[in-house]
Amino acid sequence: MPLRSSSWYAGDDRNAYIHRAWMRRGAPDDAFVDRPQIAIANTASQLTPCNSHLGEVADAVSAGVREAAGVPLEMPVVSLGETQLRPTAMLWRNMAAMAAEEMLRANPIDGAVLLGGCDKTIPSLLMAAASVDLPAVVVPGGPMLTGTFHGLPLGCGTDVWRLSEEVRAGTLAEEEFARSDTAMIRSRGHCNTMGTASTMAIVAEALGMVLPGTAGTPAPDSRLLQASQHTGRLAVELVTDGRRPSDILTSGAFHNAIVTLAAVGGSTNAVLHLLALAGRVGVELALEDFDRLGSHVPLLVDLQPSGRFLMDDFFRAGGLPAVLREIRDLLDPDAITVTGRPLVASIDEAAIWDHEVIRTRDQPLIADAGIAVLTGTLAPRGAVIKPSAASPELLCHTGPAVVFHSIEDFHARVDDPDLPVTADSVMVLRGCGPRGYPGMPEVANMPLPRKLLEQGVRDMVRVCDGRMSGTAYGTVVLHVAPEAAAGGPLALVRDGDPITIDVAARRLDVDVPAGELAARAPNAATCAGYASPLRGWQRLYVDHVQGADSGADLDFLVGASGSEVTRESH
Ligand code: FES
Repeated sequence: MPLRSSSWYAGDDRNAYIHRAWMRRGAPDDAFVDRPQIAIANTASQLTPCNSHLGEVADAVSAGVREAAGVPLEMPVVSLGETQLRPTAMLWRNMAAMAAEEMLRANPIDGAVLLGGCDKTIPSLLMAAASVDLPAVVVPGGPMLTGTFHGLPLGCGTDVWRLSEEVRAGTLAEEEFARSDTAMIRSRGHCNTMGTASTMAIVAEALGMVLPGTAGTPAPDSRLLQASQHTGRLAVELVTDGRRPSDILTSGAFHNAIVTLAAVGGSTNAVLHLLALAGRVGVELALEDFDRLGSHVPLLVDLQPSGRFLMDDFFRAGGLPAVLREIRDLLDPDAITVTGRPLVASIDEAAIWDHEVIRTRDQPLIADAGIAVLTGTLAPRGAVIKPSAASPELLCHTGPAVVFHSIEDFHARVDDPDLPVTADSVMVLRGCGPRGYPGMPEVANMPLPRKLLEQGVRDMVRVCDGRMSGTAYGTVVLHVAPEAAAGGPLALVRDGDPITIDVAARRLDVDVPAGELAARAPNAATCAGYASPLRGWQRLYVDHVQGADSGADLDFLVGASGSEVTRESH
């Protein structure tokens, strides 16, 4: 088969002349003939500090591409820095995916290596590659090394939540808290807990889209560059063999991703990203599948936010291959990876080197650990909870609602000494869904009221139509669908309404008669926040974003468009 790029470069006509001439820049004639043109889609940016080292990774990929007689072409793409973007990075995931998809399609590219790290960067690139369906492979940029403060390891993200709660509880001085920020980010790389970045790197490998054994390699570790160079060679092989994302991202691959997500105690954000990715490749995947396939998988990894250790420890202990070997019987044996071989064929040599960090199957941290999907009168289309990050005694609980109409309302009132809240209350935050905020921010893990912290309370049931950081923890029911802004019953809840969460029964209910609930008008303060933006991406997003139960992709981006471009203007 002729290479896709040859339709740009081959021949003697004026268009081929233009394409070759502008790209030549000293390249020999044979750079355009039968040599796979490999885009290195790079999310490096100084405003995405977790990915700022990816230039060096790209160099290693380029070397591998050249060794395999391909032509590497670095292609900067939209980069999303989780901690810097306002109002929330999730607002831009679909935009980044759309931009990368269009640039991969519009350019003379035969295949792509996708360099990501920070939370949304791997999901957006995977969604793009799935829609354009050109041969593609991911290089995860890797987690940072473990920092320490007061002699103890600091979990990037998770310990920010913990330390800030200690300040609010009066058990840590503000100056000490401020001092810890220089210790937290010890090296290049992304957050070092099993937060969203680590989770999505691991999930991408479980999906088969990463050179096996690469995900979780710390960013400063020279083995990341070695894997990057191998990945460059592999990208050329993918083109030669014609292996595309649609060959790899099968229902079996999503099965493996969901099982792995549970075994490592991964972020709830993976639910949204996997649903959106499945929509791009046409794999039938529903919210309930996460419960069906994952909820009875044992938690084998003792990492923050659910546990004690960090990604550095995880890699040292054997990493993802060691986990996959323990759950081999739960994996789809036929799902292949970018190598063309089954995922399960890549783990024969894997071993656990530290049984404190990675447990064996017969000694799990939690027997049934995966994400649970709840439905009920408060979440007709579903909501999720991560039981491994919750307090066991709160997994079956009824309490009166304390309702916040927006995140601003929450911040204004949460520490009011007169707020009618007790440890038994259920804190409800609405107006934070994909359409309502817009962009579905990570606010569901609401900080607890100061007066309860001072009483020693460290967890409460919280319910929200937004997301939670993958580094966060607590008994938090999130992604409630439909969201309040889309007419969900969350918009109708009032202070004092009894809310019941029963994870064993997979229920989330507001105990108000259906007729009484339906007769209520949505709260005016909540509705005031839903005014549609006038222009730009936010307007497009609000008009077309789907619910959390569908992965919050835009309705017109669902499905693949392929890589064909039949017209040009020269
Ligand atoms: Fe980039 Fe956490 S802020 S991974």
